Amino acid sequence: MNVLILGSGGREHAFAWKISKSSLCKKLLVAPGNAGTSELGTNVNIGVNDFEKIKELVLEEEVMLVIVGPEDPLVNGIFDFFQADEALKDIILIGPSKEGAQLEGSKEFAKQFMFRHNIPTAKYQAFTKENLAEGYAFLESLDAPYVLKADGLAAGKGVLILNDLQKAKDELKAMVADAKFGTASSTVVIEEFLDGIELSVFVLTDGESYKILPSAKDYKRIGERDMGLNTGGMGAISPVPFADRFYIEKVEREIIRPTIEGLQKDNITYQGFIFIGLINVKGEPKVIEYNVRMGDPETEVVIPRIKSDFLNLLQGIGDGTFSEKDLEITDEVATTVMLVAGGYPEAYEKGKEITGTETVDKSIVFHAGTKNDNGTIKTNGGRVIALTSFGETMEKALVKSFDSAEKISFEGKYYRKDIGFDL
Ligand code: AMP
Ligand code: GLY
Repeated sequence: MNVLILGSGGREHAFAWKISKSSLCKKLLVAPGNAGTSELGTNVNIGVNDFEKIKELVLEEEVMLVIVGPEDPLVNGIFDFFQADEALKDIILIGPSKEGAQLEGSKEFAKQFMFRHNIPTAKYQAFTKENLAEGYAFLESLDAPYVLKADGLAAGKGVLILNDLQKAKDELKAMVADAKFGTASSTVVIEEFLDGIELSVFVLTDGESYKILPSAKDYKRIGERDMGLNTGGMGAISPVPFADRFYIEKVEREIIRPTIEGLQKDNITYQGFIFIGLINVKGEPKVIEYNVRMGDPETEVVIPRIKSDFLNLLQGIGDGTFSEKDLEITDEVATTVMLVAGGYPEAYEKGKEITGTETVDKSIVFHAGTKNDNGTIKTNGGRVIALTSFGETMEKALVKSFDSAEKISFEGKYYRKDIGFDL
């Protein structure tokens, strides 16, 4: 069948890498894609939110299955757009309905969902500028640090963690009354601070049954020892050592199953990925967020560990055979190290020539922010290339990822040399 992947990051290159190995894949299209995906399929220069153009492409190229990489088109209702169109409704679209995407699109929606279905998470209350005074009083009732979250999508910047009460009050006001994150922060969720190690669990569901994909941990801060500004993610490890079989069984019992059953009880149509961000609080997993897509760079370690034909699994979502499919996972550890542009996550330059990718032989080179400029590969984003390696242990895999990181050059290249330091 012909497959379309929407997106242009390392996550989408990892999907393309895996899908292109499937004997079921006849033609692979990626929109808009990057220099890496163009080596595996055809890049088409269409934006992920341009539903009309996506429709034209899907019909013209006889696409049978669409994988939606980022959250934006999902929150904007691409699933519902396909369902409502006579010509598109039989195409398998991997992603939740617009309502389901609210699990990521609205923090308050997600919190209400978790409380309704008894899914462990931090205590919270939501505020707008109408009840700002109550927001101040709620902050006073909590101990520091204070966690403030813009309700809507804020490009990963909408969460503030503050130690000072007055600062927390000022920020709350800036968010709800002065539109610090635009309309995304007209509602703010304030929640209890959870102290522990984070990990991410990924689930693929057809709405009825589900499969648990490998767990992963990402490293979000720009600086070593988790210091400095938040980024999209600087590296990742899979599996997470403390998330053994018993721990994952607990997560399944207390979080995954209630989530799937909750979606069913609430009549929310959901087929696709659920990315559950957890904090392990003294052995108790608690949800800090849902995402309705795969993580990036987590995908670059999760997908390579899957041995089964992934397209066959996705096809099962469309034809009702998903529950019968096998999901085989390698025991090997996968690590990924992200090379980023100098200055990222603040201002950085694009268009720097990248050399040395062809010399990497012990890692998989996943392109993130790159483009092919008449045969020259150039940087085209803050996160540039993810280097994924396997090993019997995390340490052995990391040696390969770091060696590969030295083989690739571009002006301003930076990467964290301490991925996995806390495990
Ligand atoms: P989110 O966008 O919800 O993933 O939040 C961004 C980051 O803020 C998370 O990855 C956590 O590191 C942190 N965080 C979010 N909620 C909490 C919480 N309740 N307690 C402690 N840390 C949190
Ligand atoms: N790496 C975190 C995310 O994809 O949201």
